[in-house]
Amino acid sequence: MSKNLKGKHFLTCEDWSKDELDVVFNRAFELKDNFYKEEPHLYLPHKTLFMIFFEQSTRTRNSMEAGMTQLGGHAHDLTSDKMQLSHGESAKDTAIILSRMGHGIASRNCFYGIGAEYLNEMAKHSQKPVMSLQDDIYHPFQGLADLMTVFEHFDKNPKGLKVTISWAYADTHSKPLSVPQTQILLFPRYGIDVTVANPKEFPLSQSIIDKAQKNAEIGGGSLKFTNDMDEAFEGANIVIPKNWGGFGYYDVQDYLQNEDQCKKEMKVNLEKYHDWICDDRRIKLADENVKLMHALPADRGHEVTDEIIDNENISIVFDEAENRLHTAKAIMSLTM
Ligand code: CP
Repeated sequence: MSKNLKGKHFLTCEDWSKDELDVVFNRAFELKDNFYKEEPHLYLPHKTLFMIFFEQSTRTRNSMEAGMTQLGGHAHDLTSDKMQLSHGESAKDTAIILSRMGHGIASRNCFYGIGAEYLNEMAKHSQKPVMSLQDDIYHPFQGLADLMTVFEHFDKNPKGLKVTISWAYADTHSKPLSVPQTQILLFPRYGIDVTVANPKEFPLSQSIIDKAQKNAEIGGGSLKFTNDMDEAFEGANIVIPKNWGGFGYYDVQDYLQNEDQCKKEMKVNLEKYHDWICDDRRIKLADENVKLMHALPADRGHEVTDEIIDNENISIVFDEAENRLHTAKAIMSLTM
């Protein structure tokens, strides 16, 4: 199986079968063990990964770059302003050239209506695997780390686990839809029962919801929606309070043609929902052994209170962040 994954793009978990994902998780657990025992695991000696970030990153950038070093290779940390991309060089030409100089390309491009298309265009023309470091639709590396963390804290067969993904207030920036969308697509494939809570002006994309419902039917999980954060927290085993922008409220083309107007509306809508926070009162609605997950960065005091995110009996956010390293290394070692 490992041999078959060499050269495979990683743009979304949707393109990977459960058998293939199981290979990834097995490799990630093996690599985590190697990391703790300080055993060498040089799967990629002298290999080069080109990473192109159009946006900021702490976890993704460092899990990939540290991961490449630990696997025996090297990652170039590139930003679009350092490259001829800033003068309009195409995704196609960039992908052809980088794939002839190295062994993998990874990029983060979260511009709504643009990011995933950009990555697909690179993948079409690259001779080497292309990996999404997050786009406007998917964040596949985050999904893997999330599920690995669920396996560690609950069960490798998490069927029947109740996971609540709730929109939460944040005033930092309009975060992409890609984290919750990846989670609703992936978790029900493993039999997890997912509840999504969001104000009506902050829906996820309908096409993703439709795909996720199909995944739930096949995987034995379930997916339901509510506009009531309290209701979603009741009895949950895991809660994930996370802000996302109101992009899903608009048709993509309408959004791109009226971006300034849509952003203004999103800001007005956002201010209606300051009370969408994960706090002590809401945590008490959940299961008594509830765990808090969050992709981070968290908007402390808005998405979740310090009291909850710093509570070591509840919060597993730093395990989740660390697992970004082990899952990133698993994908790179199997595909590059
Ligand atoms: N969760 C995540 O992708 O974090 P960064 O934006 O810091 O990479």
